Amino acid sequence: MIKLEDIRKPVGLEMKEFDKRFKLAASSHIPLLTVVTRYVLRRKGKQMRPLFVFLTSKMIGEVTESTYTAASLIELMHTATLVHDDVVDESNERRGVFSVNALWRSKVAVLFGDYLLARGLLLAVEKKDYDLLEIVSNASREMSEGELLQIQKSRSLNIDIETYYEVIRKKTASLIASCTASGAKAANADKEVVDRIHEMGIQIGMAFQIKDDLFDYQPHGLIGKPTGNDIKEKKFTLPLIYALHQSDPGNRKAMIRKIKRGNRSQQVVNEVVQFVTDLGGIDFAMKMMQEYKANAMEILHSFPESPARDSLRDLVEFTVSRNK
Ligand code: IPE
Ligand code: IPE
Ligand code: MG
Ligand code: MG
Repeated sequence: MIKLEDIRKPVGLEMKEFDKRFKLAASSHIPLLTVVTRYVLRRKGKQMRPLFVFLTSKMIGEVTESTYTAASLIELMHTATLVHDDVVDESNERRGVFSVNALWRSKVAVLFGDYLLARGLLLAVEKKDYDLLEIVSNASREMSEGELLQIQKSRSLNIDIETYYEVIRKKTASLIASCTASGAKAANADKEVVDRIHEMGIQIGMAFQIKDDLFDYQPHGLIGKPTGNDIKEKKFTLPLIYALHQSDPGNRKAMIRKIKRGNRSQQVVNEVVQFVTDLGGIDFAMKMMQEYKANAMEILHSFPESPARDSLRDLVEFTVSRNK
């Protein structure tokens, strides 16, 4: 199993410096904000996004001031998104502990997320780094569109595979693509290279979200956030969408009705998991995830060999093999 510590090695010093800057960038003098910030930052995530930024800069050329700004901005934006996402998904667990909305209620979580986002964007403004600002603002817009599209479709309980791909491309892949694109831009890559590496980020992000959606079908307690939650929230992800397509119309209708009336019941979750597994939904999602991974690797290998490229390859591998 590939470990993040090993992947980090070529940019170890940079990641240390990033840690300092990231904390500083989120600090505040408002007591409530200080308390919430301290709580959230105590539980680091995997920090895969800053890692994508640094490794991409290094693969293309050198880590620059803009690389640091991009890494901090994007991790702040990501954190803000998770805080908001747990409000939207009514989820009370994140990174193995209570979510912000669970402890301080949704109003605080909404405002706190906005604060983090604003602080992140200001980092780019302060450096007059408008290229970076453009890349991440676009990702931010797409993430909101993706989340809203997902809500719209979950109401109708009728989502096709193409729409699912559109949702995850917007809500997840766009941010990961902004990591690789801004990392390349920071290392002064030309437009052709930035576009190519942006597309690599999209392919990685697709695999990343499919993996995340597969976690929902695992037993609880392994990944630091609830499982079965998508089903309880009536969120149709790839394994379920595929299984519904495979099933005959009668069963499909019955299953949709069950999910609709599920009322967050664990028994319904168990039945859905069984249904999806039996109809090959898990296998299909894994196959698609591998396909996106292979597309990403193909683009990655269009760049010359280097320790940074090797680490990126391992990070892509980690994206699909991780267990949290
Ligand atoms: C979780 O992202 C949110 C999704 C886009 C699925 P991560 O799994 O990168 O979250 P942390 O930062 O490591 O907690
Ligand atoms: C995470 O989405 C947030 C975004 C990608 C915008 P999910 O709701 O699918 O992810 P988790 O499982 O709660 O982290
Ligand atoms: Mg969500
Ligand atoms: Mg969620």
